[in-house]
Amino acid sequence: MAQHPLAQYLEAVPDFPKPGIVFSDISPLLKSHFTETIDAMSALFTEAEWAEIDCLAGIESRGFIFAAALAYKYNKGFIKVRKPGKLPNVAASIEYGLEYGSDKLEMQKGDGSKIVLLDDLIATGGSMGAAASLCEQVGYDVVGMACLIDLASLNSFTYNDMTVRSVIQFSD
Ligand code: PRP
Ligand code: ADE
Repeated sequence: MAQHPLAQYLEAVPDFPKPGIVFSDISPLLKSHFTETIDAMSALFTEAEWAEIDCLAGIESRGFIFAAALAYKYNKGFIKVRKPGKLPNVAASIEYGLEYGSDKLEMQKGDGSKIVLLDDLIATGGSMGAAASLCEQVGYDVVGMACLIDLASLNSFTYNDMTVRSVIQFSD
């Protein structure tokens, strides 16, 4: 299948942040095609689906970029899924592994809102899986998950039978 045209603006950086990791840098894409990128992520959900969504949750830090822009575009609330020690009134936290290490995410108490979780990229699915589980733990209803880039060769990630929708897929 043909690659999405926005993929040409990503930069593959070998051995960052650790030897053996090929880092997919979204910086050039955001700089030259930010609007087109947000529009491409919008198209991952139908207008009927957008109407059912209350809030967008972003995974710190790159997930904030997409969740905040889409929250503005669709007039939705924005929720932070944060790295440790940054948020007051933390209701729950979760430790998890990702492609190049491990970390912890924290959230404040939820209110039953229907949310979509956003990130820039899914590699092992560790971050998205931990964030989805944390959202449910604090009291949100996760109705969707989406990212810009799916390193499909590294994961076959699903959460409660939901797959992560993505604009760009890399499979080798
Ligand atoms: C990166 C990326 C995803 C995660 C994907 O975040 O933004 O959140 O790794 O990897 P995984 O699927 O193996 O979990 P990172 O923790 O490096 O934080 P950053 O957004 O602050 O750069
Ligand atoms: N997060 C986890 N793996 C990554 C990769 N290969 N490129 C960019 N961000 C990442």
